[in-house]
Amino acid sequence: MLRRSLLYLSEQPWLRRWMEHSPVSRKLTSRFVAGRTLANAIGVLQRLSDENILGTLDHLGENVNSLADATDSTNAYLEALAAIEQNGLPATISVKLTQLGLNFSEQACRANLRTLAERASVNGCRVEVDMESSAYTDRTLRLVTELHSSLPGHVRAVIQAYLHRSESDVRMLSARGIPIRLCKGAYQESISVAFARKAEVDANYVRLMKFLLAEGAEPAIATHNASILRKAVRTIQEQNIAPDRYEFQMLYGIRRDLQRELVRRGFRLRLYVPYGDAWYPYFMRRLAERPGNALFLAKNLLRR
Ligand code: FDA
Repeated sequence: MLRRSLLYLSEQPWLRRWMEHSPVSRKLTSRFVAGRTLANAIGVLQRLSDENILGTLDHLGENVNSLADATDSTNAYLEALAAIEQNGLPATISVKLTQLGLNFSEQACRANLRTLAERASVNGCRVEVDMESSAYTDRTLRLVTELHSSLPGHVRAVIQAYLHRSESDVRMLSARGIPIRLCKGAYQESISVAFARKAEVDANYVRLMKFLLAEGAEPAIATHNASILRKAVRTIQEQNIAPDRYEFQMLYGIRRDLQRELVRRGFRLRLYVPYGDAWYPYFMRRLAERPGNALFLAKNLLRR
């Protein structure tokens, strides 16, 4: 119930406008968001790199209001790619297609995504295409698949284990050699398209993860779930899977204990590092994942 309400609020533009301009916002968001500027985010990537952790930069912003805003987002990512290169950082970028104009023109969005992947390919970098709600799944996978055929290795898809369709998507993408980030899924979906119970989502996650570890192209196992992580490590050890064939991914600011533990044991870990002013929908999805976080928000707002 709380999860549903928070996900509903995450899509309300009036609340988004108010929250993003609120004086308390910096304090509220600092746990999950690296900062407002690219310089803040690069500073975080540098610190992570010192700890042997890779990064993927998310310039926050989704569901932009015009194609001009989509061009601005593309330019912000071009700056991020240039900064990654200048600083010699082991980082990728993560983009949402509604940020690159998908709601207005698939053609313009395709062109923006290609611009980023071509720039990323110059220094051996990669564009990770986040997955949004199921209304976008077909179009997102179509654009990723097209891009992979001309720039193989420079684009990664995201699959959400809560969707019923995901097993067939994982097989389709893997057959084409397209790298996949496997996550559970963070949006409000109906039971006609998604598993309703957490136990079903977790079970599907483990099934898809085992398939990807055995047959996927450079899968990224994106979860903070300690039990699933133990299963992943067991599969890797039992099947003697080489360390360069996969990586783990987690979100900036979540389960730092598990992050440190994976690195200490010599596993490759990449953190998803969001930055920018348009933090509201991202932040609300993080609250929805954990009721305790909503309590933290309420306390901080009341303290004002
Ligand atoms: P699960 O829900 O099983 O929780 C396990 C534990 O993790 C919890 O007990 C708690 O300790 C901790 N935890 C999890 N979430 C927390 C939070 N918000 N705050 C504090 N603690 C928390 N989704 C999507 O739909 N599209 C996408 O493109 C992506 N991309 C993505 C990239 C990366 C690198 C990650 C790690 C995740 C995503 N996600 C995503 C989000 C994902 O779908 C999912 O909502 C979250 O990762 C939570 O599920 P878990 O499997 O991590 O943990």
